[in-house]
This record gives sequence, structure tokens and C-alpha cells, in this order.
Amino acid sequence: MTEKDFVPNSYKVLPEEGRVTWKAPSNIALVKYWGKKPDQIPANPSISFTLDTSATTTTLAFRRKRRADSKISFDLFFEGEPKESFNPKIQTFLERIENYVPFVKDYHLTIETSNSFPHSSGIASSASGMAALALCLMSMEKQILGDITADFFNRKASFLARLGSGSACRSIEGGLIQWGGTDSISGSSDLFGIQYPFEVHPVFQDFQDTILLVHKGQKQVSSTVGHNLMHDHPYAEGRFSQAHENLKNLKPILAQGDLEAFIKIVESEALTLHAMMLTSLPYFILMKPDTLEIINKIWQYREKTNHSVCFTLDAGANVHMLYPKSIKDVVSQFIQNELVAHCENGQWIDDQLGKGAVLL
Ligand code: DP6
Repeated sequence: MTEKDFVPNSYKVLPEEGRVTWKAPSNIALVKYWGKKPDQIPANPSISFTLDTSATTTTLAFRRKRRADSKISFDLFFEGEPKESFNPKIQTFLERIENYVPFVKDYHLTIETSNSFPHSSGIASSASGMAALALCLMSMEKQILGDITADFFNRKASFLARLGSGSACRSIEGGLIQWGGTDSISGSSDLFGIQYPFEVHPVFQDFQDTILLVHKGQKQVSSTVGHNLMHDHPYAEGRFSQAHENLKNLKPILAQGDLEAFIKIVESEALTLHAMMLTSLPYFILMKPDTLEIINKIWQYREKTNHSVCFTLDAGANVHMLYPKSIKDVVSQFIQNELVAHCENGQWIDDQLGKGAVLL
């Protein structure tokens, strides 16, 4: 598929108004997207677990403009209050996708959004937020254009979400989602995420993700700036081919439930992501002392107990601890006894593999 396939045919009848609500989950990447080309094209392929409880709920209300013009018009409310600081990002997003959802200019949009995770948890809401908004726009398209298949609906929602935030294209459907063209996965695309098409062992199908909230403040360097620093990065080419390689190597690991090999790839990906930050120019560090304390404790715990717990990181200081459901109770004890002390205000979020976005 190409971009052109997402430009709708002309439409004649426009509803006066409407309202739709979607809840979209966050996701955690196993192979990381870090570096991009123009138009939100990833520099390398990635794969993620869709999460369950960490989610954004967005209501989109649309009302026909009295007088047609070609301006984007919207109001945004975050947790019930107007949120001016979000406006530029939404404006850029709507401008970027205008060609694919041309009817937005015929309406004034009211966007109301809220997150399931604590307000300032330091958890990026751009993935779930952009996914929820993209899904609302697709429901709007469905009302205007009539029948579209479920497959096309999800594919275009992912395509639109990507134009808001790259990782958001992996927050539409559940399970394991892959994004970015790569030879080892036929059907993979730079334009949208797809459901991982190969066998996945049951151990991964209810995997747990406990998010240890190490630092809840604003990040010093945004993901967008970080991605851009991969241009002219001395290790970029090596890193990009490593991501292709890791995706290929994950295939038998995911099929066989090989947790030992899984852990090696996932932890290496997390540390490589941060190594790219450490070696960018300008260089930066998003991990905090407690991030490293937690990583060391996870390693010690694994060594001592042989339990298959591992960590991954996103572009921040928080640690995502991944493990099979069968050891949830003992891991929970470990968190209470050893890890909570390293979390800001003792906070963490228990999450797990989810089934994807839902229409409310
Ligand atoms: C480290 O999707 O937040 O979480 O496309 O600029 O919005 P933009 O970036 P974003 O980058 C996420 C990077 C990451 C890795 C990942 O999720 O794959």
C-alpha cells in the first residue's frame, strides 16, 4: 500500500454533527524505534507489546461549520480543562493528515481527552493519545463515507496515528505489533503497524509489564529531538541494521517461548537505545541513579532465583519490568521488598499485554 491508498474518494453527504469515543492503549517497544526520516518514516523497524490498563480515552465531537473555510478548527480539553500547551501538537497533526481526512475542515472539532495513568507519571501519553484521536477520526470517516472494512479501518487509523507520533501506530490493535519495513516480515510497512504475523508462544500472550515510576518530571530531551540526533550519529547505520537483525532473530524466540534469548534481545535493545543518547551530539542521559539501581536489582534477582524477569526502557528514566504471568505473585513480593524504594513516591503501575483499542 502507498500513501495514495489512504486518500478518500470524494464524498457528498456530510452529517450535521456527531460524537465518538475511543480508548486506546499505550505500548512498550521490545525492538526500539529511534531515528526517523521526513514524514514520520522510521529509520528502522520496531515491535511492541500493546498494553492494557495504561490508556487514553478521547471523545471527538464534530459540528458542521456555518460557513465553509479551509481552516482547521478545534478546542482541546485535557482531563476536563482547556490545555493550551497541547494545541500546537494537535494543530500540526491535523494539518499533516488533512489530505487523508479532508472532511475535518468542514467541521469544528471538540476533543476531550484523559489518561488512565496518573497525571504526571512521566509516562508518555503521545502513543495512546494520538492513537485514540486517529481512531475517532476514522469513526468520523466511516460515518461520512459509509462502509469500510475493519482491516482498512485499523490500517488507516495506524497510518494516521503514525503521523501524530511514530510509536502511536503500534497502539491500535492488541498483542504484538510490528512497524517498519523489514525483509524478514512480509507485509511489514513504514506507513503503519501490523499485527505480528508469525507464531507467538502462549507464555508471551499474557506477559506482564510493571512500570516502575522512577522519575515523574518533564524529560530533559524530547523524543523528537532525540530522533533527530540520529542524523549524522556515528553509530546510526550499525544501530539500524541491528534492529533488522534483532527482529529476524526474535522470530524463533517468540514462536518457541525462549525466555532466555528473549531477555537478551530486549535488555540489549533498551541499553542500546540509551547508548545512542549517550553518544549523540549533543549527548544526554535520561536514566537516573534509581534506574540503574533497579536494573542491577533485577539482574541480581534473576541470578538468584532463575526467574525470567527482565527490563526495558523507553525514552525516560522509568523502568518497564517484563515477566510471565505465572510468576506474578513472587515478582510482586520482589517489587514490594526491593524496588518500591527506588520509585518516586513509591509509585508503580501494574500493566500487561492488552487486546487493543476499544470503541466506547
Ligand atoms: C524510545 O513515537 O514518541 O519510545 O514519532 O517523534 O512522536 P515521535 O516519537 P515517539 O518515539 C518513541 C521512541 C521510543 C521507542 C519506541 O517506542 O519504539
